Amino acid sequence: MIRSILNRRSIRKYKSDEVSEDVILKIIEAGMLAPSAKNRQPWKFVAVTGKSKVSMMKAMEKGLEREKAKPLLPGSAKEFSDAENTFKIMRQAPLIIFVINRFGISIDRELTPEERIYEICNAQSIGAAIENMSLAADDLGLGSLWICNTYFSYYELCEWLETDKSLFAALAIGYADESPRARPRLGLDVVFERRK
Ligand SMILES: Cc1cc2nc3c(=O)[nH]c(=O)nc-3n(C[C@H](O)[C@H](O)[C@H](O)COP(=O)(O)O)c2cc1C
Repeated sequence: MIRSILNRRSIRKYKSDEVSEDVILKIIEAGMLAPSAKNRQPWKFVAVTGKSKVSMMKAMEKGLEREKAKPLLPGSAKEFSDAENTFKIMRQAPLIIFVINRFGISIDRELTPEERIYEICNAQSIGAAIENMSLAADDLGLGSLWICNTYFSYYELCEWLETDKSLFAALAIGYADESPRARPRLGLDVVFERRK
């Protein structure tokens, strides 16, 4: 099996070493090589480092405070400590790559059945791009963390990123400062059920 598929782990502790421009571009190129529905390539990548990261974190913190004071997501309160933990990791990682669905539709309005089908296909394509990037990061000696816990700050982040399209995920990247064990996986019985 491909070495990086076996070796990749979610990394939640990073060294302070910067990731070079050249390496950032290699990782994004790996994302762009992913397959996509109808070859639509629905992604847009925004790499955030250095001082920009400080201002980005401020936007995220503002969003979390707003959500605490006036929740837009019902039941979000039970997720706050997880979100704060993820924010801490994002603060430490030297590089964050945001992935935007450039065909995304505002989360404020309901999708038609046709739009939902497009959204499902685009989501899979973007997932493939993110997985490619995390495997490329591993291959280049870096750790990464796929992050969806940014949705509390959805509006604030979209404003910061100057996009009215949908923000899908973030990938934190940096040199790992931990070596976590593999997390358990379900057994193969989930796959072979129909063979009995
Ligand atoms: C779509 C997606 C969203 C995730 N969001 C977060 C997150 O917001 N915070 C976090 O700490 N981990 C997040 N993870 C990482 C998962 O917790 C992790 O992949 C899982 O526990 C398996 O561990 P492994 O990646 O080391 O194999 C996310 C993973 C995926 C695929």
